[in-house]
This record gives sequence, C-alpha cells and structure tokens, in this order.
Amino acid sequence: RRIVVLNGPNLNLLGTREPHIYGSSTLADVEALCARAAGEHDLQVTCRQSNHEGVLVDALHEAAADEEVVGVVLNAGAYTHTSVALLDAVRATDLAVVEVHLSNPHARESFRHTSYLSPVAVAVIAGAGVHGYRYAIDLLATRRE
Ligand code: DQA
Repeated sequence: RRIVVLNGPNLNLLGTREPHIYGSSTLADVEALCARAAGEHDLQVTCRQSNHEGVLVDALHEAAADEEVVGVVLNAGAYTHTSVALLDAVRATDLAVVEVHLSNPHARESFRHTSYLSPVAVAVIAGAGVHGYRYAIDLLATRRE
C-alpha cells in the first residue's frame, strides 16, 4: 500500500525559494522525509512535483485508479487558491486528500486565505513547515489502521 505525495508549482525550488517563509529544506529533503514517515507505517510513497495544473489533475486521477493508494498528501502551492480543476478532480474520486502547506496561508496575504481544496480535504495542515508532510502521512496511515 502506498501514499502519493503531490507538490505543485514552485515547490521544486524549495531550499532557495523565500527560505524565510518556506525554510531551507529542499524538495529532495521533503521527499526523503516522506519516505521515512511512510516506512514507519510499512507504506511506500510515490512523490511527484509539477508546475502544471493539468499534470496535477492527471496525477490525482492516477492515484484514484490505483487500488494500492491509501491517500494523497497534496501541497498544491498557489493552485490551492485558484484551481477549480483540482477541486473537481478530488470531487470526482474517492481519494483521501490531506492538504498541506509549509507556511500558514491565513497569516499571509488575503488572496491566500481561500482554498478551493479545503472543502474536500480530510484535513488541512498549515504552518508546520516540512513536519506537516509527516503529520499528513501519519494521519493517512493511521485512519486506515
Ligand atoms: C504554499 C502556500 C501557497 O500560498 C503558496 O502559493 C505556495 C506554497 C505553502 O506550502 O506554504 O506555493 O502552498
């Protein structure tokens, strides 16, 4: 059984991107953390990152079609605040999605206060930095245990 970790636009730049907001860990560090966290629950991870909305939609469809997938950890980046397509993709599936943000969007600009994904998320974890990914994996793993 596996967890899919999906990271959206600009998260490939983690480590150098506004480190005062997003921290110094790289995407590779985050993905390694996710593999360790999943391994503690005897789960595999598939990690994907894309800067393209449609690729993220496709990744959600693929996750939903895979019976091995327990749930999805989704940091959709800025698409969180704009994407009806990602909302509809989650709605179209029975996927358990945990929405993760490194920063706390509610403490930032008002355009970050709306999430199209929160209404269809099992949980939302924001502001915990990279630890948020671990919490999301722990949640997805244990809600089925
Ligand atoms: C983010 C928050 C979003 O508002 C922003 O557009 C991102 C990253 C976060 O992880 O804190 O790209 O999702």
